[in-house]
Amino acid sequence: APDASTVDSMADRTAPAPVESIGAEFFDDPHARYRRWRAEGPVHRVRFPDDVVRWVIVGYAEARIALADPRLRKDAGQLDAILHAKRGTTATDPNIVALLTHMLGTDPPAHTRLRKLVNKAFTSRQVALLRPRIEQITATLLDAIGDRDEVDLMRDFANPLPVTVICELLGVPFEDRADFQAWTKTLVTVVGEGEHDERPTASAAMVGYLAKLVRAKQSEPAEDLLSELVLADDEGDRLTDQELVSMAFLLLVAGHETTVNLIGNGVLALLRDPEQWRALREDPTGVPAAIEEFLRFDGPVDMATARYTAEPITLGNTEIPAGEIVYVALSAANRDPARFEAPDTLATDTPTPGHLAFGHGIHFCVGAPLARVEAQIAFTALLARFPDLALSPTADLHWQTSTLIRGLLELPVRLR
Ligand code: HEM
Repeated sequence: APDASTVDSMADRTAPAPVESIGAEFFDDPHARYRRWRAEGPVHRVRFPDDVVRWVIVGYAEARIALADPRLRKDAGQLDAILHAKRGTTATDPNIVALLTHMLGTDPPAHTRLRKLVNKAFTSRQVALLRPRIEQITATLLDAIGDRDEVDLMRDFANPLPVTVICELLGVPFEDRADFQAWTKTLVTVVGEGEHDERPTASAAMVGYLAKLVRAKQSEPAEDLLSELVLADDEGDRLTDQELVSMAFLLLVAGHETTVNLIGNGVLALLRDPEQWRALREDPTGVPAAIEEFLRFDGPVDMATARYTAEPITLGNTEIPAGEIVYVALSAANRDPARFEAPDTLATDTPTPGHLAFGHGIHFCVGAPLARVEAQIAFTALLARFPDLALSPTADLHWQTSTLIRGLLELPVRLR
């Protein structure tokens, strides 16, 4: 009998190559797989753990083109319809689709309008005003672990720092974090075929929670971003209740698993190369450049969020037909030897600019200035406070099973 890949290439005559599957083992070392795929070509067809075949871009040049090409779209309703057509299932609950119709789930002109309303809260100038408070939160967290020998740096530092910041910025009660962190985790985790999909329940819980919060801000606005968005009025244009909930949802999720893992992945990369840790400790003015290298070397977003082809598009000599789902693998592009010299080596003192860790084009990360400031404060403080920080000798590292987020489950370290 023909194997699965033969069947696929017979079924779809435009297929450039057999389809390869990714399963749980992929997440231990996605870079190894990307290295092999890149050597074969920039565009691949991949069977994901949910049994759906998607197109994955692994070449740097093609990734940059794809991220800026208007033929690759993000409309959440269309994407949902395409996904269900491929699975042969009925479309998702309209409430969940509405939740995903935020700026990262829309195309212009809807995207332009939504982005304009939050843009000004995240400019470098606005973010600079948050510096003293971020430094204070950082100091408090490091004080709390200061007299211990070993800690899980994810649980005790990398996670609570950005989560506290985004909660305060938005005006979301920090006490509720256990709930929305659990919902967020569920939403970014890959669901295998036959596994029960917890995502609808998690989305519903999140919507209920955020709708209540939005109502509270409407009746009693406070000094926070969510209240500002409630009151925002762009020449008569206001956000609807539904739009407020999905905007809050996007900002909360985006502010969560991203900077957390920039800190986690960056610390791991440095501790595996103690010479570079020492160099930065001696000259902390190198921290901002080092952070750009952490973003390139092992950024927190592995594959960017899903796109679909509104019409056929040719990338790297491969024609992708209309109605296909496309993932741009940012972490693969960021190690493309055609763009970066010695891409698998961490070079904190001489980073090559141009990484795609924050995306590219109209959806380029709105939170990038905030993420950079948080990471700069976090690394500067860690280097000063714990000059002899080291990976715990018993550390057994495991990664999240998500194609979106590249992040450690735990990072056990020795503080001295
Ligand atoms: C978009 C990465 C932190 C808010 C994106 C995209 C990437 C990204 C790759 C584009 C996704 C795509 O095109 O499919 C990161 C990384 C971060 C980070 C690596 C940390 C190191 C943040 C923070 C916030 C944020 C702290 C703010 C709370 C957003 C928003 C978008 C976005 C709102 C959508 C922009 C749009 O559609 O126009 N981010 N992000 N991000 N990010 Fe971030």
